[in-house]
Amino acid sequence: MNLVLFGPPGSGKGTQAKILQERRGMPQLSTGDMLRAAIAAGTELGKKCKAIIDSGELVPDEIVVGIIAERYDRPDCANGAVFDGFPRTIPQAEALDAMLKGRGRKVDLVIELKVDDAVLIGRVEQRIKESGGIARADDTPETLKNRLAVYYKNTAPLIAYYKKQGKLVTVDGMAPIEEVTKAIASVLDRVGRKGCLEVG
Ligand code: AP5
Repeated sequence: MNLVLFGPPGSGKGTQAKILQERRGMPQLSTGDMLRAAIAAGTELGKKCKAIIDSGELVPDEIVVGIIAERYDRPDCANGAVFDGFPRTIPQAEALDAMLKGRGRKVDLVIELKVDDAVLIGRVEQRIKESGGIARADDTPETLKNRLAVYYKNTAPLIAYYKKQGKLVTVDGMAPIEEVTKAIASVLDRVGRKGCLEVG
């Protein structure tokens, strides 16, 4: 199963992807985590991306497509993966479709976590408070505003892209974490039983 977890910053993509990894053994492929690891390690890639990420803008498509393809070819993705924070633009979605097609696979399901902006802002403010002074460089009220604007401009159009492919399911991301997990599990089990998604 290749699952795309989709939603604005703070919608719970990372939280739910980790749970899927722990409970279902589905590897979490988070472009945000990979880029932050590159920054922490001081690699050329990290140096190139740091200022972009810190400002809340998107790293160029070819960079994230490259790191995803490299990561996806590792053995733990033999049965698929959870894509967390990727794709984020139409060209990235097209590149993912092409990459999977080249390996005889496809995106099986896209789960959108729907959360109101005010709740997202509250969650990130809470995360900043709980960080004990070592918050993510892009977790500031100003940068979050930009990350949200970038989401609506560049990433939200993917909703129509995946709807058209009949792959999109929207889950209420404002419910408590365990309830969101249950809602995702029920979609995954339905797809698992039927072999495909019956929208509606
Ligand atoms: P990325 O790391 O992907 O960050 P993001 O999308 O902004 O998302 P977050 O990690 O802030 O939130 P999340 O949805 O994972 O929610 P979380 O589970 O953490 O990307 C960072 C940057 O990297 C981008 O801005 C860009 O520059 C670059 N980048 C990454 N991918 C890229 C790509 N494909 N192309 C180009 N550039 C790319 O939850 C948030 C908080 O809420 C947590 O504290 C959590 O405990 C809490 N929470 C979660 N669920 C719930 C719930 N149901 N109820 C209450 N609280 C909850």
